[in-house]
Formats: sequence, structure tokens, C-alpha cells
Amino acid sequence: MTEESPQPAPDDITRRDFFAKVCYGLGGFAVALFGVPIAGFVLSPLLQKPLRDWVDIGGVEAFEIGDTKKVVFEDASPLPWAGVTARTAAWLRRTGPDSFIAFSVNCTHLGCPVKWLPDADLFMCPCHGGVYYKDGTVAAGPPPHPLTTYPVRVSDGRVEIQTSPIPITTV
Ligand code: FES
Repeated sequence: MTEESPQPAPDDITRRDFFAKVCYGLGGFAVALFGVPIAGFVLSPLLQKPLRDWVDIGGVEAFEIGDTKKVVFEDASPLPWAGVTARTAAWLRRTGPDSFIAFSVNCTHLGCPVKWLPDADLFMCPCHGGVYYKDGTVAAGPPPHPLTTYPVRVSDGRVEIQTSPIPITTV
């Protein structure tokens, strides 16, 4: 008398099939786990905003010739989660009817925001006492370079600044 091993019914899942499906599932999960970040890294240059961009600052008439005003605008490469930190600023001076100069607010020493002192015609950095002349060149203190300037243009009566990433000093 021989004993036959029970055959699985056609709809029953065998242990081998079960483990094969678990392996496929885990393999797919691993591919997604590592593949999505890699794909994001490879494709991110295509999805990013240009690092330089012209931004509208306001009408020319909002600025008096000779005045230096702080203007706020969005950083050229804000991260989606940057929130208010995506805002940056420049010191904008109107030098003629259609000419402007824009200085970065970031000190070239370690990046602290500089202040314009109209009575002294100087930019002052509160962090380590850096001082800049009216034209942005270094007057005193540790800053190694003049203040960075942004390109400025007037288009249809509007002042536009070409933004770029926050200038970081490389000493
Ligand atoms: S950050 Fe401005 S002097 Fe150091």
C-alpha cells in the first residue's frame, strides 16, 4: 500500500509561490527605496529654476536719485520648503534717471546683513565691525572683498535685479 502525498488544489498557493511573491514584493520595494532618490538626483537639474533670474523690484519713480534703499525679493534658487528664508535683499541706489546699482546685503566676511548708514555714507556690518564705503569697497574690518553687486536694468519703467545665489566668501 503506497501513500500518496496530497496535491494542492489549483487555487491553493504553495509555500514556494508564497515566498516567490514575497521576494518580488521586497525587491520592488527596494528598487523604489533606492531608485526614487537616485532618479530625483539625476533629474533635479532639469526641474530646478534657473540660478539667475530677473526679478521686478518696482517702478523707477519709487526711487529718488542718490537714495539707497533696501529692497526685498525672492532668492534665485529657493528650496520648496524654504518658507520666509527664501527672501533675500539688496541695497539699491539710484545713480541717475535710468541707472541703478544694487549691493548684496551679505557681508563678504561671513555673510551677515550689512546696514546702510546714510549720514556716514557707509555700509556697516554689525557682526565683526566690517565697514564699506559708499561704492561697496572695504573701508575697515575683516571683510576680504568689496560688497557683491547684482546686475540691474530698467525695463518699461520698472527696475529689475538679476538675482543669484547668496554670495558666500571664499577667502
Ligand atoms: S560678517 Fe561682516 S565683518 Fe564679519
